[in-house]
Amino acid sequence: MKVLGINALFHDPSAALVVDGGTVAAAEEERFSRRKHGHRPVPFAAWELPEQAARWCLASAGLEPTDLDAVTYSYDVRLARPADEMGLHDPWDHLRQTYARQAPEFLATALPGLDPADVTFVPHHVAHAASAALAAPYDALLDAGGVDVLVLDGRGECASHLAGTYERGRLTTHRTQELPHSLGLLYEDLTEHLGFLRSSDEYKVMAMASYGEPRFLTELRRRVRTSPEGGFVTERIDWDAMAKRLAPGEQWSQDHADLAASVQRRLEEVLLELARWLRGRTGGRVLTLAGGVALNCVANTVLAEHSGYDEVWVQPAAGDAGTSLGSALHVAAQAGERLVPMRGADLGRGWTEVEIEERLRTARLRYERPDDIAETVAECLAEDGVVAWFQGRSEFGPRALGHRSLLAHPGRRENLERLNDVKGREQFRPVAPMVLADRAGDIFSRGPVPSPYMLFVHDVAPHWRDRIPAVVHVDGTARIQTVDADQEPLVARMLTAFERRTGLPVVVNTSLNTAGRPMVDDPRDALECFGSAPVDLLAIGPFAVRRPTA
Ligand SMILES: [Fe+2]
Repeated sequence: MKVLGINALFHDPSAALVVDGGTVAAAEEERFSRRKHGHRPVPFAAWELPEQAARWCLASAGLEPTDLDAVTYSYDVRLARPADEMGLHDPWDHLRQTYARQAPEFLATALPGLDPADVTFVPHHVAHAASAALAAPYDALLDAGGVDVLVLDGRGECASHLAGTYERGRLTTHRTQELPHSLGLLYEDLTEHLGFLRSSDEYKVMAMASYGEPRFLTELRRRVRTSPEGGFVTERIDWDAMAKRLAPGEQWSQDHADLAASVQRRLEEVLLELARWLRGRTGGRVLTLAGGVALNCVANTVLAEHSGYDEVWVQPAAGDAGTSLGSALHVAAQAGERLVPMRGADLGRGWTEVEIEERLRTARLRYERPDDIAETVAECLAEDGVVAWFQGRSEFGPRALGHRSLLAHPGRRENLERLNDVKGREQFRPVAPMVLADRAGDIFSRGPVPSPYMLFVHDVAPHWRDRIPAVVHVDGTARIQTVDADQEPLVARMLTAFERRTGLPVVVNTSLNTAGRPMVDDPRDALECFGSAPVDLLAIGPFAVRRPTA
């Protein structure tokens, strides 16, 4: 069975292709359109079809739209209600609903040959839930007690949360929380109050929280609380009473960091109560998570530590991008397909050596082909160079996981500032380490290991903090990516070669992009990025392009 999944409504338009139960391709539209998030994250720009991503998904599998058995759309307009009836102030919502209603016709226009009657609407939170529970690497469990799932985001059709269990490909929903109560919208409101872009910059708030004390926790506990039957209440919050509203780019004060810390802490407490409620009901062993809130890696670690579940797995594309994949998996499972768990996040575009070399020649760049690109990169990093690393297929979801990455030496504290400068980021934001999986336990504790998708935070062992200062956040934590030599042999070889030279099995890894741009996806993006940023070496496929010395 061939299913094309589409996310086109709230944020991060994307497409995914599931063939015979396996995910063969998934990509966000921003990587093609070069517009971050596919469109500005504002409601009146929501009608962005992932047309390029969808066309690429089909082409990569040699399929035509007429070959598809189903097209899934991760929003079910039949469940929607007028925004004011749900207590939301959202004057553009009726446009969104009109757009969703017409989606089959729009898709048939973008993908000629597609039959509008093949389009199936999947409820938004069911799509999120499936993206976690049906993609998680617990295949055996699908037949034995199932996998629990918690979805938390800003909003779906009329809810902001779903607590359920997937068993044998079927979802049982235990509880949903209706709007206007929403932990995602609460966090988005704070993001905006702190002068950042809502539905986009929430991770900046999480980073800022590490600089503060949860001084306003009592007030937050009054306003945000769980209900006895597994849901929650979020009352209106007078943000100005705690810290004044910031304009974009305005300097923040201790009050703002304390407010961020308070909301972050309250979010962790509420998530923990929701997870414990679910486990109390199901007795489950594995919890899976999706929805934008599940990108909060600090909260994820609290859940992994204290929820009572043996294991917590988070969909790497936990934001709305992942709903294209989830909606397709859900419909495939309903049709009785045996699903193959997700093997990695490298589901986007890849390029052959011939294609890459052709582009290097076209750009008239001087390049070399070393015996082993991993050794060449390790050597450059050991000499404190910054490396743009372009290898294999691009990542699905917001994290660079060793396919489109910017790498640096973790032993030099100033490399944090250097990378934040390259990327045009605020200096309070941390960069993350990638580490050989079998060495992670010596250096990092608290969060789960392995952690291949950078979705949890870990404590850095005290005697390691001075050895890898560039990747240690102000609170002594790091958001690690563990690298398994079987799954990522090239990255593992580079890390091993770096350790041989420096004694450190750790390299700084941040996404390959510059200020405000989506992650690099194709070789042309990589060359543009290399040409416009102070990067010393571009490792693209087996080729090395060096910055000419003046
Ligand atoms: Fe969502």
